[in-house]
Amino acid sequence: MSKLIIEGQNTLSGEVKISGAKNSAVALLPAAILAKKKSVIYNVPEISDIDYLIEIMELLNCKIEHKDDALIIDSSSVVNKPIPEELSIQMRASYYFMGALLARYKKVEISFPGGCSIGARPIDIHLKGFEELGATVEINKNRYKITADKLIGKKIYLDFPSVGATINIMLAAVGAKGTTIIENAAMEPEIVNVASFLINMGVKILGAGTKRIEIEGKEDLDRGVVDVFPDRIESGTYIIIGALLGDNLRINGIIKEHVEALLLKLKDIGVKYNIDGDSITISKCNNIKPTHIKTLIFPGFATDLQQPITTLLTQAKGKSIIEETIYENRFKNTIDLNKMGANTRIITNNKLEVIGPTPLKGTKVNATDLRGGASLLIAGLIAQGETVIDNCDVILRGYGFLEEKLTSIGAKIKITE
Ligand code: EPU
Repeated sequence: MSKLIIEGQNTLSGEVKISGAKNSAVALLPAAILAKKKSVIYNVPEISDIDYLIEIMELLNCKIEHKDDALIIDSSSVVNKPIPEELSIQMRASYYFMGALLARYKKVEISFPGGCSIGARPIDIHLKGFEELGATVEINKNRYKITADKLIGKKIYLDFPSVGATINIMLAAVGAKGTTIIENAAMEPEIVNVASFLINMGVKILGAGTKRIEIEGKEDLDRGVVDVFPDRIESGTYIIIGALLGDNLRINGIIKEHVEALLLKLKDIGVKYNIDGDSITISKCNNIKPTHIKTLIFPGFATDLQQPITTLLTQAKGKSIIEETIYENRFKNTIDLNKMGANTRIITNNKLEVIGPTPLKGTKVNATDLRGGASLLIAGLIAQGETVIDNCDVILRGYGFLEEKLTSIGAKIKITE
């Protein structure tokens, strides 16, 4: 297990570039299976979730070449094998092989996906969507066998606008005859990124990024070419770091509209920044005001930034309230934040109180999940003395070149085995 060692309280300046979005890339790779040709995905982030996806794709006989930050994926000789649990459990996104393989082969066998333990995270909406398209789902313990004689396009209403279910049903719908309409679809940028890849392959899709998406099934797709969008959660994480430690820290490669809820919230609590095209320059704010944050589906405040901003609010003067409405168990990081000197308290299952400002002190902590780990990383950067974060592999699942990026802007940080 690797450890992250941070010597805190260093001012951060210079420039940092945001990588491609984890949650787009992890859907784009399985989507490449739909074209029985060579597709190209540019701006792929260097994170461990991608390494595991590549392992699954190579097991399925995809030929994958790396060229700088691009992946060239040849899906012409894919073999539809069952995906073993030891691979599917490594990440959440393994569920996208359900939609992609179902579309291409009308059959898929895979175990329940892994991912951060932040709530129950069922996949019932995905499965219901496949069934509505005509598939049969058999579940034996943790194993899912999904089969169909044929898939037929249909109007499907999602009980919740799930990101994963929207993308998975969109992928399956490519293999259906006729038109599928997804009502109450998720509107996150990841949906638009995947739709643009499929459109590039020749699929007709209308409405991606809105609550109603229309997909026309298509056989014989062209090769697809796509750029992974910049990671809005990595962007937000560096923006929060800049608000705590920046001295004209410049963060390049952001899409303002994707981080707007965070930016408006920061403006509200006194953080000043300057946006210039796809860059933002931000400095330390010495007078952070407390606030109320409620996580919501896009374009609301992203749940994936809830844990990072909790650390920022430990430095606000007064009481902040954080309401987590997407996951049932996303406050695990507060145990270690309190160990470092924060004053947080879970009021009810989904409400957290943060009273600040509290100076933080470096100590030994444990990353329980990706964004919880990011919140401890930020805490370590502002804490006095040395912070050691155990189990830092979970952070590396979502933040590429973490040590290099932070070191280049002046942080003292080291990853050791
Ligand atoms: N849900 C169901 N049934 C389903 C699907 C979802 O009840 O069939 C519930 C979930 O349990 C959760 C809520 O709906 O309470 C939202 O889940 P959603 O399906 O939207 O999330 P996801 O697809 O599992 C993706 C990201 C998450 C991110 C969420 C929300 C990937 C691989 N993961 O998860 O990213 O939090 O969307 O934006 O794309 C992260 O990056 O740290 C992370 C957890």
